[in-house]
Amino acid sequence: PQHSVLLNTGSRMPLVGLGTYKLRGLENIMLTVDAALAAGYRHFDTAAVYRNEVEIGQALRELLPKHGLLRADIFVTSKLGPRDQGPMAPAACQRSLDQLGLEYIDLFLVHWPGTQGLRVEDPQNSGNRAQSWTALEELYSRGKFRAIGVSNYTVRHLEEVLASCKVPPAVLQVEFHPRLVQTELRALCAQRGVCFEAYSSLGTGALLSDPAVLEVAKGCGRTVAQVLLRWAVQQGIPVLPKSCNASRVQKNGQLFDFELSQEDMDKLTGLDCGQRYCWDPTSVA
Ligand code: A2P
Repeated sequence: PQHSVLLNTGSRMPLVGLGTYKLRGLENIMLTVDAALAAGYRHFDTAAVYRNEVEIGQALRELLPKHGLLRADIFVTSKLGPRDQGPMAPAACQRSLDQLGLEYIDLFLVHWPGTQGLRVEDPQNSGNRAQSWTALEELYSRGKFRAIGVSNYTVRHLEEVLASCKVPPAVLQVEFHPRLVQTELRALCAQRGVCFEAYSSLGTGALLSDPAVLEVAKGCGRTVAQVLLRWAVQQGIPVLPKSCNASRVQKNGQLFDFELSQEDMDKLTGLDCGQRYCWDPTSVA
C-alpha cells in the first residue's frame, strides 16, 4: 500500500510524487516515468506551463499496463498557468484534461496567484483569482477534477480564497525545505484542513551541500536527497522530487524504510532562514 495523506475531499494522495518540471521529450519522459513506476511512484505532478502534459499523459497510458496498473492506481496533478487566470480559466482547465488525455485529473491547482501580463499592483489580479477558482469548482462538481487547490499562494491569498469559496482548497503546494519551513502557511493549512505539500525539497540542489544535512546523511547511511525528502514526509508532508536520472528517481522514492531521530529532525528544522530558491510569490497583488 502507498504511503498517503487524506485530503479534505475524502480521497488520498500518495506522499511521494514525481516532479516533472523541465522533463521534456517523449523518449526521455517515457524512460523517467517507467523508472518512477518501477520504483513505486504512484503520483505524478505536472502543469500546463511545464509543456509536457501531452507526453506525460501518453507515457502513463502506455506504461500503466506494463506495470499492471490501472488509471485508478495513480494520482495525477496538473495546474492552471498564470496566463490563463481569469476569463481563460474554463478553456484552460479543459485543455489540461485534453492534453493529458485523461477522463479526470486527481488534483488541479491554480499555479500562481498572479496573472501573466498584469502588473503586481493591478487590482484585477484578485478578480482573476476568484474567476479561476470558480472554474476549478465547476470542474470539481462535474467530477473532472477530483480535488482542487492552489500553489505559491501566500497567507493573504489563501485567506482570500478560503473566505469566498464554495469548495475549499484541498492542497497548498509551495516551496518547502529546511531553509524555508513556512511556519505561518503550515499553521493556516493545519487550522483550515488544507494539505500542505512541498516542492523543491532539495532547494533546487542548494541544500545538497549543506554541512548539517551531509552530517545527518552520513549518520544514517542515506543520500542527502533522501534525508531532505524524509524530513518532510516524516512530518506528513507530501514531496515531489524531480529528477531526469533513473537511479536518482529510484533513490528519491525510497523514503519509508528508515526514520530520522528527533534530534536530526530538529537539527534540519533549525536551518530555517527564510531562504527561497524559486520564484518569490510574496509580492504578488
Ligand atoms: P537531475 O534531474 O539531474 O537529477 P528541487 O526538487 O529542489 O527543485 O531540485 C531538483 C534538482 O535536483 C534537479 O536539477 C535534479 O537534477 C537534482 N536532483 C534530484 N534528485 C537528486 C539527488 N538524489 N541527488 C542529487 N541531485 C538530485
